[in-house]
Amino acid sequence: MIKDVEAPIYTEGIFSGSREALIEAVKTQVSNKRFEHILRVEQMALNLAEKWDVDLETASIAALVHDYAKERSDADFLAVIAEKKLDPDLKQWGNYLWHGVVGAELVHDELGIHNQDILDAMRQHTTGAAYMTQLSQVVYMADYIEMGRDFPGVAEVRQLAFEDLGASVGWQTTHTLQYLLAKQGRIYPGTITTYNGWSTK
Ligand SMILES: [Fe+2]
Ligand SMILES: [Fe+2]
Repeated sequence: MIKDVEAPIYTEGIFSGSREALIEAVKTQVSNKRFEHILRVEQMALNLAEKWDVDLETASIAALVHDYAKERSDADFLAVIAEKKLDPDLKQWGNYLWHGVVGAELVHDELGIHNQDILDAMRQHTTGAAYMTQLSQVVYMADYIEMGRDFPGVAEVRQLAFEDLGASVGWQTTHTLQYLLAKQGRIYPGTITTYNGWSTK
């Protein structure tokens, strides 16, 4: 169904090195399993970016860094929240939220990536947001539908992401919320804000 888009050669100076150098930097941070996931997210993000006219280099970088901080310790994240004076409410949550929202600070400082659209796409990749750029939607969806994912409806939502990107964002958000409710876990209010922002009813 999907013909893979070729990865771009970096020319825009968003990251100081090549795509290969960025891949190496990411690889040092995560397990092999997660690294493979990240490469599949990049491929799906490129495919979606081509379809939706998002800059390929930007999409590649955002996808490659999205889980850069996923394996950092809670102590690391709490230190960044304090140091950068981020919203203290963040401390109530965990890795699920921190690896995006707080992780973006680590990508900024450690990888020297200062592009706000990329950092916002990383911040929003787990919970979404009421307003998301096309880039942010592409990363949010690519993380969910990369070719290693397998869950009921995955084929349907993969197709939807190429037909109506916004509708696929709504689909993911609704299903995530249903999953969280079924588990009877706490729900980050931002997830509900995302749901309301993308609900069409
Ligand atoms: Fe993630
Ligand atoms: Fe991910």
